[in-house]
Amino acid sequence: MKEDFRTLKDYWSIKGGCMKYSNITFEKKEGGVGLITLDRPQALNALCDALINELSDAIDKYEADNAIGCIVITGSEKAFAAGADIKEMQSRGYMDVYKSDFIRAWERVGRCRKPVIAAVAGFALGGGCELAMSCDFIVAAENATFGQPEVNLGILPGAGGSQRLTRFVGKSKAMDMCLTGRFMDAKEADRVGLVSRVLPLEDFVESALKIAREVSSKSRPSILMAKECVNRAYETSLAEGILFERRMFYSTFATEDQKEGMKAFVEKRKPVWKNR
Ligand code: CAA
Repeated sequence: MKEDFRTLKDYWSIKGGCMKYSNITFEKKEGGVGLITLDRPQALNALCDALINELSDAIDKYEADNAIGCIVITGSEKAFAAGADIKEMQSRGYMDVYKSDFIRAWERVGRCRKPVIAAVAGFALGGGCELAMSCDFIVAAENATFGQPEVNLGILPGAGGSQRLTRFVGKSKAMDMCLTGRFMDAKEADRVGLVSRVLPLEDFVESALKIAREVSSKSRPSILMAKECVNRAYETSLAEGILFERRMFYSTFATEDQKEGMKAFVEKRKPVWKNR
């Protein structure tokens, strides 16, 4: 049977080996969920180059793995991530960041075709907030704290903060956060639409995994197409976006899962997806 995605075996033969992680942990969870935990507690998960490379590699692996239907990125109880690594960036000059195309590697998360959920507890500041916003949606623990405090360092957001935050929360709030560097707590983030839901800190990761399992349990093609459609809303006019959605909607009628989903509804049973 032809596979929808490359297999993990294909992945290994293409990549030719296994990257050892020292800044993240990588765990395949039940229900087709891939968990990535940022794990640099000594620096509040500051996003150094090595961490970003490991994160990209982990996304590559989950993307190539047919068993995974949804990815969760989380950090610790104290920090999702406190931003780009200031100590690593401190001595860099313009030519260093320009020639190395600094930040480009961060875009891997936003380019993932599978759904990615950011599960944010504690600080999500600067690049940490930007990383969370490059996921498909953010679930926040009660203690989550968001901010773009780059102005305090004589720089500005560089991983999409000024653009994505504005789309999430509107001009006034985004300006306020980018110009004053103030933090936003979970309640405010929920109220203004930066996060999709706020969950208790207790069992937070387990609750986020439960949401991911729910996403992963759906028909894979419909999930991928729904994600493409929502993302298209940010890149095009309303009329073009609606046309795009309609075309995608029509194409679901060519899937086996549309037949199965509707048949199962009529027969009052749970659908058995073929992901085709
Ligand atoms: N980079 C490197 N190290 C960091 C860091 C960062 N972004 N954030 C925290 N750390 C380190 C601290 O230096 C400290 O290390 P030492 O013990 O070796 O001194 C350790 O993590 C613990 O931090 P604090 O002692 O400061 O912890 P705190 O609880 O007192 O404060 C905090 C927490 C408010 C998050 C504070 O650490 C802080 O303000 N961090 C920086 C936040 C920030 O400015 N982020 C933006 C970075 S720039 C960026 O992200 C650019 C971009 O857009 C891509």
